[in-house]
This record gives sequence, structure tokens and C-alpha cells, in this order.
Amino acid sequence: MKLAAVLIASIILSGGVFLIAQSPTTLKIDTGTTVSTVSPTLYGLMTEEINYSYDGGLYPELLRNRTMFIPHHGLELWPAITHGDSVMERVADTAVGPSKALPHSLKLAISKASRTSQAGVANGGYWGIPVRPGTTYKGSFYARTEGVGPARVRLLTDELGTVLAETTVDLKFGNWQQYHYTLQTGAGVKTSSTNHLEITFARPGTVWLQLVSLFPPTFNNRPNGNRPDLINMMAAMKPQFLRLPGGNYLEGDFINERFNWKETIGPLVDRPTHRSPWNYQSTDGMGLLEFLEWCEDLKVEPVLAVFAGYSLKGEHVDAGPALEPFVQEALDEIEYVAGDASTHWGAVRARDGHPAPFPFHYLEVGNEDFFDKSGSYDGRFEQFAKAIRARYPQYKVIATAPVKKGQPDMIDDHYYRTPDEFFAMVHHYDTMDRNGPKIFVGEWATRTGSPTPDFGAALGDAAWMTSMERNSDLILMASYAPLFTNINAGGMQWSTDLIGYNALQSYPSPAYWAQVLFGNHVGDHTVQSSASGAGPLLFWSATVSTGSRILHLKLVNASDTAQPLTFYIPNAAPGEATMYSLHAATRFATNSIDHPDAIKPITSKVRSSGSAWAHTVPPNAIEVLDITFR
Ligand code: AHR
Repeated sequence: MKLAAVLIASIILSGGVFLIAQSPTTLKIDTGTTVSTVSPTLYGLMTEEINYSYDGGLYPELLRNRTMFIPHHGLELWPAITHGDSVMERVADTAVGPSKALPHSLKLAISKASRTSQAGVANGGYWGIPVRPGTTYKGSFYARTEGVGPARVRLLTDELGTVLAETTVDLKFGNWQQYHYTLQTGAGVKTSSTNHLEITFARPGTVWLQLVSLFPPTFNNRPNGNRPDLINMMAAMKPQFLRLPGGNYLEGDFINERFNWKETIGPLVDRPTHRSPWNYQSTDGMGLLEFLEWCEDLKVEPVLAVFAGYSLKGEHVDAGPALEPFVQEALDEIEYVAGDASTHWGAVRARDGHPAPFPFHYLEVGNEDFFDKSGSYDGRFEQFAKAIRARYPQYKVIATAPVKKGQPDMIDDHYYRTPDEFFAMVHHYDTMDRNGPKIFVGEWATRTGSPTPDFGAALGDAAWMTSMERNSDLILMASYAPLFTNINAGGMQWSTDLIGYNALQSYPSPAYWAQVLFGNHVGDHTVQSSASGAGPLLFWSATVSTGSRILHLKLVNASDTAQPLTFYIPNAAPGEATMYSLHAATRFATNSIDHPDAIKPITSKVRSSGSAWAHTVPPNAIEVLDITFR
């Protein structure tokens, strides 16, 4: 009885999982028989301000609390500096600021100072200021002055106060003005992050400071641009889209803390900043246009998420007239993104420096609206979808929960699971109705390991990705979340994030490498595959790139035992296949800031033949074989 059960343990799928131990194991793949399409947009990115993903991360502003925001930190991020016998009073001035958006400032009243005894303030950055040799740092600040003379701006080491770079900025007596400065490090400066900035003055008087900024070189030298190492890591994932802004950051804890896109565009001095639901103030230096330019940097399309009248702590706006202003806000946002310069908001985008529109196809209404217990989402979604389709029939509209009204083109499903949970749900979509809305797995991750996922998480992710590929006729897009974390104490609000970093370095988790492997070998169709025999948990996906005649065979051995296989791939061209393998000694193995390369993919060549080709997948391994077929 048991033996009979074992003998019939054979499954025919375009990818799947062996659950019962049996030997020998065969895997037959017929590259000539396609089963389903694989979406060209399957893998993408999702982003939000969490874990200091932008401030202290991708958005490389070096000075923390540049807008002198008092409620969260008081003045602690701008400590007073009184060299020698200088005397100064430092206060938050809530009545004096350079703009409507920033009506406050830091006031320094200096009663005694000299060239050798200067007074002013310092800033230690986001857990240090990274300094490299031979590098130009560009800074600016707004100042209103009465006396004080020129500003001396210096980068200094924390420990010894060694000056790493210095400049002087002449200030005009009188009302608010923006000043620019440059700090240049010498070739002999050592790379380090235990540094701070100082702005000091040599004469008595009063100075008000606001929007004090310092930038390192950015990706493609874009002003107000992105941190290059993080952009390069994302580019290596070959993403096809960026869901922006995603997650709770879109909603805010309260409606007045939503991602109010109109307050994130234009000159920085006109951006009031806002509180992220992850409990810190966002500079909004990474505003809507910067998100779109990020898409441009990566050559990907935005998936635009619009605020839909519901916030995380349960505030909601019922469908009807009260919701109209939010619908209009979304329509304006679409025009800002994709309207040409002859439209009102397209012209504003052109004024902001980007005349060309950003084309896109998918638009998401809200985030995780299944949390809205008021039951208002059906009506809200319908109102948004109707208005959007009336004006922009070309867009596919995504709902964030199942709805009875409004006919979504796509539903956004989210999964945060353990490895075992993902192993158990790899057939979740196999039998799902193909006539309903398409699926966007807009947030998902296997959550083991902190701050970044361990190898067990990478195995869970890879198993889940084989199942998403097999079901990619239905699942058109998927994006791992969260993408980033600053690993310093206090930097992380959500454990298990794909990429970790501090001020100076970044590192890939094993799960990042799983994304890279799958994202670079997607294929356009699944092909018929069948397996017989079994072993420990083994998952696979067989897709082809039809044009280049390459079979992408992904194998995931999530057990501690090697898995011998015999491949039967009749159309495989005899010769060599390329194998990319990611392997770890145990599920608990991982990468870290000190050991960034402990686990990384290895590329090798393996001999391929059409019939009876023996291949053993090591324990705890993820493999992608690119096999040329005739
Ligand atoms: O990715 C972290 C959070 O998880 C997102 O902000 C939210 O959408 C989800 O609940």
C-alpha cells in the first residue's frame, strides 16, 4: 500500500514540488510544449520610507534633521559648538523661517566669538557622515543674519577633530538667502564614517539657519539624486517596475499624514516634510518627481499608488462627495506623472525640471484596504476606478482587497511568511480562476533573519518564486518588501529586509541573490515538465526564452540532503549549460555588513545532454541552469 503510494507519486506540471522520499528522481522537460505565458513584468520593486530607506539610505543627504524639525528630536541633532571662550545661545525659533513650508529655524545668538574661538553648531549625520578621499561634497543652506560674519564649514573626524575638508561662505547681512558651498577632501584622507559637520562663526551677532544640506556624489551626478551603490544593487536585480510609494507610507497613520504628493514636489524649501507611519519625519527630499527619476535611473516603469481615503489607524472617508477631493488629488497626480507639458500638472512637472512625461500602465488604489473594517473600500474603489477610467481609459486599475464593485483589473495580494509556510503554499495559485482579475503580489517576503534575511528565507523566497513563475499567466507582477534597511541601532522598524547598509557600505542578503538569479533568468513561457520519484523538499520551475532558445531551469533544494536527479530534456543541445548556484552550509547562514560575500552566486559550466543527464542539487541550494535547446 505504502509502496503503491510511492510509485504513483508522480506529478506533471510546468514546475512543482516533490514531497515524498523516493529514488531515483527524474525530471523530464519538453521545451517544445509551452504551458503558459510568463509575464515580462513579473519581477519589480516596491518602496516606502521605512527603516531609513530614503533618508539615511537611498536619498544620500548627509545631514540629519536638515530642516530643524523640533518635535521629534528637539535640537539634539544640532548640538552647540563653542570653541575657546566663545559664548552662544542656541534656540528653536518657531516664528522665523525662509518659506511657508518651513516657517521655523535654528537661531544662534552669539555674544562672544573670534577667529580662534568660533561658535556655531554641528551635525553627526545619519549614524555618521561618510567621507572618502578625493571627493567633492556639495552643500547649501538658508541663512538670515545680523552680524556673525562669514560661515566656516568643516568636516571633522569625531575622535580627534581632524579637519577633513573646510570652506568659508560669505554671508550677506539681512533677510533669508540660500548659500551654496563645496567641501573637497584630499587624496590622503582615509575612508571613514565617524565624522561630523561643523558650521561656525567668528563674530558676535545673530544667525538663523534652515535647510542645511550636504550631498556626496550621486548616481549619474543627478542633483538631489540617489546613492550609487544602492541603485547599482537594484539594477542588478533586473526589475521591471517600481511600485511607488507603497505600503503604509502611502496611507500615513492619519489622513493628514498621507503621502500628500503635492507637498513633495518643487524646491526643497517648499516641502514641509511629513511624519512617516514608521515614526520618523520624512524630509520629502525623495518626493514624487524623485521617485520617477529613480524609475528613470533604473529604466523601469512606475506602478503608481494613489491615496484612496483610508489611513493606517482606521480613519476613512466614505464614498461620495467627501471623497471627491481625494479622487481629484489622484487625477492631478496622474497628470503630473504622465501628462504632457501642455496640461496643468504636466507643466508643473516641466517647471520642476522634467518636461518629458513618465509613461506607465498600472495604477493602484490605496494600500492593504482589507484592514479597513468600515467596509468602505468597495465604494471608494469604485469611485476612484470610475473617475480614473473616464479620464484615462488606458490604465489598468489595481485594487488592494477583493471588491464587489468597480471591476478591478488586478488584485494586490501580500504575503509575509516563514520558509515552511511558503513551501506549503507553492500550489496556492495553481487552481485559481483564470477569468477573474489578474494578480499583483505587491508585497511578499520570507521572514527569517534580521536585519536581513538568512539563507532559509532565501530558500522560502526561491520556492515561492518557482510557484509565481508557474502561475505567471495570472500573476503579472510581484515585488519583494521591504527592500532596504539602515542597520544602525534605531534605523530598522521592520526586520528582514532585502538589502542592508550603513553610512559607508551596503551588502546583499542571500535573499537578494535569489532575486537576482530569478530576475535575470525569467523566460517568456513555462514549458511542460514532469517529475517522478521524490526526495527532500525540492522545487523547480522550467521556463524558456523563446527567441534565444534557452531553457531556464530553476531548482531549489530546501533540505539538508543532496538531491540526485536524472534530467530527460530531449531537445537540449549537447554541450555545456551555464549554472548559477547559491548555496549555504545551513539555513541559518547569512551575510552581514562585516561578511557581505559569505553567500554569493557562483557561475560554472556543466555538461548537458538530451537523455539521462545526471545532476545532483546540493543541500540548501538554489540553482539556475541556462540550457540551450534545439
Ligand atoms: O512592508 C512593510 C509593511 O507591510 C508595509 O508598509 C505594509 O503595506 C505591510 O503591512
